[in-house]
Amino acid sequence: MIKHIPENIIEYCNDHSEQDNDLLIELKDFTQKNEEIPQMLCGSQVGSFLQMLIRSIDARKILELGMFTGYSALKMAYACSKSSEIHTCEIMDKHISTAQSFFSRSEVGNKIIIYPGPALSSIEQMEINSFDFAFIDADKNNYLEYYKRCRLLIKSKGIIVLDNMLWSGEVLNPKDQESKVLKKTASFIKGDDMMYSMLIPIRDGLMVCIKK
Ligand SMILES: C[S@@+](CC[C@H](N)C(=O)[O-])C[C@H]1O[C@@H](n2cnc3c(N)ncnc32)[C@H](O)[C@@H]1O
Repeated sequence: MIKHIPENIIEYCNDHSEQDNDLLIELKDFTQKNEEIPQMLCGSQVGSFLQMLIRSIDARKILELGMFTGYSALKMAYACSKSSEIHTCEIMDKHISTAQSFFSRSEVGNKIIIYPGPALSSIEQMEINSFDFAFIDADKNNYLEYYKRCRLLIKSKGIIVLDNMLWSGEVLNPKDQESKVLKKTASFIKGDDMMYSMLIPIRDGLMVCIKK
């Protein structure tokens, strides 16, 4: 992660933003204690930003690529109306069972539909122009393919958010495959006439795209 903003400033921002409820805090703690790479969880700041975007367009059908232990899916489920749906893709069984154990304890857990397996196969089957919002946060090597598919799955005025688009700054001088793909994805989005887009330096970089 890029740490140009001092930790106490981030804490102040978090203190003056909507707070996670007890279940979300427990899920973050559980992930911290039991997962090898707990920092994959997007965190309160990104999660709250997703909630703001979802509320701003009253998104009712939401797609997530990369569920992990379920924090962002649950966070989004709290932000959307009662009849809304979160369709989330996850390849690892272990993550799916952790997430399910938390979803089953939440009054909004029934909004979340899990697609086990590779996200690319799952999204190939989904209906074009049917989603209001998509959060792309799975493996970085497939980001360009994920974006190309999501731009079709999203309705006009819908929003796509891609996490980790700064990849700790590696995208400035990409050496590994993931950084190269992320840079290629950012360039593709920049030239995409279908979208208004902005890369925002929140945490590890959030690319926000609004479909025209
Ligand atoms: C960065 S984590 C997602 C974090 C989650 N959105 C959150 O904020 O709590 C990425 C997740 O994508 C999953 N993943 C990796 N490759 C995948 C693939 N091809 N299809 C579906 N999920 C995949 C990983 O197992 C991991 O759980």
